[in-house]
Amino acid sequence: MEVDLLSGPERVPVSPVAPALEARRVSKVFVGRAGEATLALRDVGLEVQRGTFVSLIGPSGCGKSTLLRILGGLEQPSTGEVRSTTRQERGGLPAVAFVFQDYGLFPWLSVVDNVAFGLRMAGMGKRERHDRARAWLARMGLAGFERSYPEQLSGGMRQRLSLARAFVTDPEVLLMDEPMAALDAQTRLLLQEDLVRLWEETKKTVVLVTHSLDEALLLGDRVVVMTARPGRVKLDLPVGLPRPRNASSATGVAFSRMKADLWAALRDEVEKSLEHS
Ligand SMILES: Nc1ncnc2c1ncn2[C@@H]1O[C@H](COP(=O)(O)OP(=O)(O)O)[C@@H](O)[C@H]1O
Ligand SMILES: [Mg+2]
Repeated sequence: MEVDLLSGPERVPVSPVAPALEARRVSKVFVGRAGEATLALRDVGLEVQRGTFVSLIGPSGCGKSTLLRILGGLEQPSTGEVRSTTRQERGGLPAVAFVFQDYGLFPWLSVVDNVAFGLRMAGMGKRERHDRARAWLARMGLAGFERSYPEQLSGGMRQRLSLARAFVTDPEVLLMDEPMAALDAQTRLLLQEDLVRLWEETKKTVVLVTHSLDEALLLGDRVVVMTARPGRVKLDLPVGLPRPRNASSATGVAFSRMKADLWAALRDEVEKSLEHS
């Protein structure tokens, strides 16, 4: 293969098969107040192909949130590297959007202004950003709540609002950290169905951290199981369930078998993490 050394890295075409996100031998050490070191991640390797949905599960404290923050550039790895082929910015809009369990909403902004916030930061005019925000609110079943404030909404509605806010900027990558963990079981089921539909319509590159095996399988193209701390990838399971998926995809023999495989891999790790806590 010929390499043109003069063309510079920015001219090298991005391979269409290059992963959208890649962690290579990523380790992370946190140093506490008393100087004690915690090895949160050790040699994590993870490739996330463009347009795929990866579910990430593992025992509490194994480093899932840390890995997500590193993948999204909110935190630097201690060793190893993260590669991303996503464009860093498009007209001031972020290429990566986060959705957290605690919503991360601004209580002092109305619902429509919460959704439009990222667009405003990118310098978009009021008319256009409100139009876009309203369209996403309608899509998420929140039409009529534009002038409400987050505290006036139920937990499920707030999480729909968070999703609208993440999707409205049309990011290339969505990183979600247990977005449904605080919801009751029925609300959660509804939101999972919304998210399946939304993903199948938009085909974003997604990494979702969840504690729910059902959720991981229902939504993911792959489920990655992490070990107890220091977190490493223990199992990377392709989910062959056909799409489009809906609640009934979480039934049947293939689903049960995959769930059993996931639990077999996860169970030991949960026990280990309990022993050490
Ligand atoms: N900013 C930080 N400073 C010190 N320790 C941290 C920090 N963030 C996370 N940790 C520690 O790193 C480990 C992994 O944390 P985290 O990524 O939140 O795990 P998970 O999301 O899987 O529950 C935990 O032991 C946690 O206490
Ligand atoms: Mg976490």
